[in-house]
Amino acid sequence: MEAHRFEERAVTDALDVDRPNLARATDYLFGGGANFAADRAAVQELLANHPGFEVRLQAARTFVARAVREALARGHDQFVDLGSGIPSVGALHTSTGYGTRVVYVDVDPVAVAHTRESLLGAWTDAHVAVRLADLRDVGTVLAEAAASGLDLQRPVTLVCNSVLQWLTTTDTEDLAAVFAAYRTALAPGSLLVLSLPHADLLPHYALDEVVPVIEQSIGPVRLRRRAEVETLIAGWDVLDPGLVDVTAWPGPSGAEPAGYYAVVCASRP
Ligand SMILES: C[S@@+](CC[C@H](N)C(=O)[O-])C[C@H]1O[C@@H](n2cnc3c(N)ncnc32)[C@H](O)[C@@H]1O
Repeated sequence: MEAHRFEERAVTDALDVDRPNLARATDYLFGGGANFAADRAAVQELLANHPGFEVRLQAARTFVARAVREALARGHDQFVDLGSGIPSVGALHTSTGYGTRVVYVDVDPVAVAHTRESLLGAWTDAHVAVRLADLRDVGTVLAEAAASGLDLQRPVTLVCNSVLQWLTTTDTEDLAAVFAAYRTALAPGSLLVLSLPHADLLPHYALDEVVPVIEQSIGPVRLRRRAEVETLIAGWDVLDPGLVDVTAWPGPSGAEPAGYYAVVCASRP
């Protein structure tokens, strides 16, 4: 109850509909309805200058859906979505299905409030929860997951899609320590499904032109290179086909590379 009151107050403080919000703009990009004119204008400007940009984000989302199938095939039924945004269209719980539990986690009270509202219909189902937390605060995230009904003695699939580029001031080594902490805290056989845009194909994919447009409306972005992503997942067992473009997981799709790295890794049994 207290947590809810805190969130409501935080939303009122944070709710500024005249400025684009990352979660709401992403929601608009995916065809959701939880957005305002400023969010739509920011996305429209981005797409006007870089038509087809949304295809890359869509490719990252469909990678997550394929990785979820792998998790389900391994018997996983517990999922934590780190930096979930507003999971309206193509939401994680729509791919995990019945009999699974999904906990959405976001640091932005606006995203959490919209998520709660969009999930109202699914609320009585009790298999979906949303919590306000910073993904870097591993203890809090796991405590909230347990409070939402996850059994942390059993394997959990962590999903972290399109989030780490927004953590511009956190060193890669510090983020690696965060993912190492999840790995050691979670039951053996837990999975990490990670995707993030990268800087390795900059000239070809003109991300160097896109990034300033995004930064102007939404906020600073940091693209990490392959070696940094490898540092992030050190200590995890990387599943085939390894660290690849999202369009090549689990195998080449014939689509143009999206400029997003994808990897699924497991904690050791
Ligand atoms: C581009 S959206 C991605 C949303 C979703 N994961 C998807 O696949 O579309 C990034 C989200 O990450 C959230 N975020 C950024 N930093 C975070 C942090 N430190 N902890 C938790 N969430 C964070 C933002 O608030 C935003 O909602």
